[in-house]
Amino acid sequence: MRIRRIAINTGGGDCPGLNAVIRAVVLHAHQRGVEVIGIEDGLDGLLPNKPAMARRLNPAEVWPILPRGGTILGTTNRGDPFAYRGHDGQVHDLSSALLARAHELGIDLLISVGGDGSQAIALRLHELGLPVIGVPKTIDNDLEATVETFGFGTAVQVASDALDRLRTTAESHDRIMLLEVMGRDTGWIALHAGIAGGADVVLIPEIPHDPARVAAHLRRVLASGRRFALIVVAEGALPAAMHDGSPRDQGARIQGGAAHRAALDLGARLPEAELRVTVLGHVQRGGTPTAYDRLLATRLGVEAVEAALRGESGVLVSSQPPDICMVPLTMACSRVRRVDPGSQLVRHARGVGINFGDL
Ligand code: F6P
Repeated sequence: MRIRRIAINTGGGDCPGLNAVIRAVVLHAHQRGVEVIGIEDGLDGLLPNKPAMARRLNPAEVWPILPRGGTILGTTNRGDPFAYRGHDGQVHDLSSALLARAHELGIDLLISVGGDGSQAIALRLHELGLPVIGVPKTIDNDLEATVETFGFGTAVQVASDALDRLRTTAESHDRIMLLEVMGRDTGWIALHAGIAGGADVVLIPEIPHDPARVAAHLRRVLASGRRFALIVVAEGALPAAMHDGSPRDQGARIQGGAAHRAALDLGARLPEAELRVTVLGHVQRGGTPTAYDRLLATRLGVEAVEAALRGESGVLVSSQPPDICMVPLTMACSRVRRVDPGSQLVRHARGVGINFGDL
């Protein structure tokens, strides 16, 4: 089938670099004589009675959006057309109506930019006959299907900048600063930012920690002559005593409280220390993407259009440096990539004295 009109949507949480993907798709499609329709708010713009939420995107409109955070198409993480919660509070399967609307708009293929949840929906649409190409996105960098995701580098940069700022105030007040970062059930942001930002302790979900060991390490740091310390806590990090061996549940269960819990645990063991908690939150997801994230996002967007024109569907564009390759969309939905506690990266962190609360 000749591809004449592509649709693109962004689903799930936003992420720096989404606009760079949209821009690349529109610019490259235009070069290849293909029209692009932008679908707003996840897939909501393809639902019945929302004609204004699907619109033609042209090169002039997208050309300036390369450095802009967020997504010009909007997004939602509650927009599953297979289980759509209506105004009546009931859950409806609107997938047939969505496919009919895509047909009515003359859409030959959908480029779905999103994380595991969005790609699971995209896969179901592909199975129902709508050609789909996935573009992976998450600041958490936790998809097995791709070596790297855009947005991650920006989040790490923001977290590392925060550590630089916390360091000067920690030093002035002789305090122990805890910085909580995102990452869902994985510790990639915490680990990378902790190394780049010179943290003393990094607590991640993949390495259950013992607060007594963290406290012992901090005592050693303080005894060495330095009177302050920096701790990075991934939002999914748990003390070993609370670890029940179900990694997929951790983040969901404790989201938002990990650093406060760690501060309470440490405060009880270091009564003489002043501890302060900063929860970085959505600051990590906002603002200008780094140059590398723009580059990666642009390459994924161009390659997604190329794959569409080759007639591919049910695949995900995946970064496998130095190339961008295609992998089955199923991979994006099923496999979370977690930090390997025995990896070189963790060893390098330990090599500069970072403590994970396990030793
Ligand atoms: O998956 C991206 C992410 O930012 C996670 O790191 C975080 O746990 C979650 O999304 C926050 O989601 P929300 O924006 O819905 O609060």
